[in-house]
Amino acid sequence: MKNHILSLLLLISVSMSAQNLLFVPDTLTGASISLRVSRDSVQFLPGRITQTYGINSYKYFGPTLILYRGQHVSMSVTNHMGDTTTMHWHGLHVAAINDGGPQSMIMDGMSWQPQFTIMNNASTFWYHPHLNRKTGIQALRGAAGVIIVRDSTEAALNLPRSYGVDDLPIVVQSHEFDSVNQINPRAMSDSILLVNGTQNPYVNLPAQVVRLRLLNASQERTFYFGLSANKTFAVIGNDGGLLAAPVSTTRISVSPGERAEILVDLGGMNGQTIYLRSYGSEMPSDVRGGPPMIMPGGNTMYSPLDGIDYNILRINVTAATANPVTTIPSSLVSVTRLLEANANMARRIEFTALDSLSMDGPFYFNQQLFDMNRIDYRIPLNNTEVWTLYDKTMVAHPFHLHGVQFQILDRDGNPPAAKEAGWKDVILVHNLETVRFIAKFTDFPDPNTPFMYHCHILMHEDDGMMGQYVIVDSTLGINDIQAAAPSIYPNPASGILNIDLSSTESISKMQIISSTGQLIGSYDRPARQIDISSLTDGIYFLKIEGNERSDVRKVLVMNR
Ligand code: C2O
Ligand code: CU
Ligand code: CU
Repeated sequence: MKNHILSLLLLISVSMSAQNLLFVPDTLTGASISLRVSRDSVQFLPGRITQTYGINSYKYFGPTLILYRGQHVSMSVTNHMGDTTTMHWHGLHVAAINDGGPQSMIMDGMSWQPQFTIMNNASTFWYHPHLNRKTGIQALRGAAGVIIVRDSTEAALNLPRSYGVDDLPIVVQSHEFDSVNQINPRAMSDSILLVNGTQNPYVNLPAQVVRLRLLNASQERTFYFGLSANKTFAVIGNDGGLLAAPVSTTRISVSPGERAEILVDLGGMNGQTIYLRSYGSEMPSDVRGGPPMIMPGGNTMYSPLDGIDYNILRINVTAATANPVTTIPSSLVSVTRLLEANANMARRIEFTALDSLSMDGPFYFNQQLFDMNRIDYRIPLNNTEVWTLYDKTMVAHPFHLHGVQFQILDRDGNPPAAKEAGWKDVILVHNLETVRFIAKFTDFPDPNTPFMYHCHILMHEDDGMMGQYVIVDSTLGINDIQAAAPSIYPNPASGILNIDLSSTESISKMQIISSTGQLIGSYDRPARQIDISSLTDGIYFLKIEGNERSDVRKVLVMNR
């Protein structure tokens, strides 16, 4: 009997541990890049097939974009998702109109063609949809991919950079599937891990120094990465670029949206096996992934992955390649520090909840939910700003800023650890912690198109833990800025479109124009309301002509 149970257990553990070769997406590069995002499906689990989104030839996730600093790229994103979407280049320093935020909607069947110059340092970024309230479902179903930026400074270093050989994207997601095997965008008890979309993955890596580009693309789980047997590795890069020097460590925390590049020295290990793991037992309880918090009443969100240590990726070490990298460099790049003495503006954002004990939200910034018609900050061009983040809620939140990279000044008054002292665009803020960062807003003034900042726990973001800022060229003067932005609401609109003329003088004419440029309606005097009930659904432009300038606002009409 005992033997029977034992062999049954063995059988289960063997079938559960069936290993699959890690999928490494192909790369796309060049001056023009086309992404076609489509509805698809994947058999992730026995039984019902899982609805997914795939990009180009893939059924889930997309190709890796390799871009070069200084290069001009024309993107084309075609939407065949059966739903409206947007596409955001997370971490790239591009103008707001090219950033793919919630305003830049791509209707089903339509394309979007942003163009921009790559201005970032060599690092690992990613792309994913950013539709208001639907970022979670769209990104988690696979409408996302990795972006690798290369530059001449990085190229001059002796670092692994053979994609798929000694330099790999490692995109980790933990999913919760519902009772009919569909991905739950509000997962709180996620338990299925995917690495580059592969379940139970293994990878063969050569016995030399290898580079892993860790990206956490999960809904809410933070990973505390380490290697089995506590093997040390070197952190070489944060979200927005390489560090000044590699930092040798045994752990690196990567919260949703964050990236970390690490070097692992597999020299002399041919034939051995190690694991990339997450050490949940070592994380604090306020972080999703740490030991579950015991709440009053005992009603606790709980995932079987919380508070435990588990394998994420099996690494089989194979023979070294020709010309391997065999040493970890002692220094990398010079990271210019932004100095607090040069800051000319301070802002403070408190993370709040209506119920201070809430663990699943909704969570707020300064007690306010996201409103597409409210600009939270107007940031003068070339400002250097210190932002203070203070988390008053029970749970930690990964705060993400679009448009620019920032540097951490301090956590509760202490300078950041060396492994997070580089350029960042996501920062995990713990319960009752105060984090200050510094950023300089050097480019892309545009009073009409906002950049986002938000929690990168996708459920929190979709629930409204998001705000928006515009960069204004203060040489224009405040009146011009106000006049340039009559707010229209609601947007999306149905039936009636309202125009707030209170801050706008001297409007002579308004026109509604279709997305193909056809004039739909013309209004000679400023109207506060326009009847749009007879329009078919889609994107329209409202052209507002004033005596001094004219403005075009995009409106999404959804009458059905
Ligand atoms: Cu990764 Cu606002 O996004
Ligand atoms: Cu982003
Ligand atoms: Cu959050």
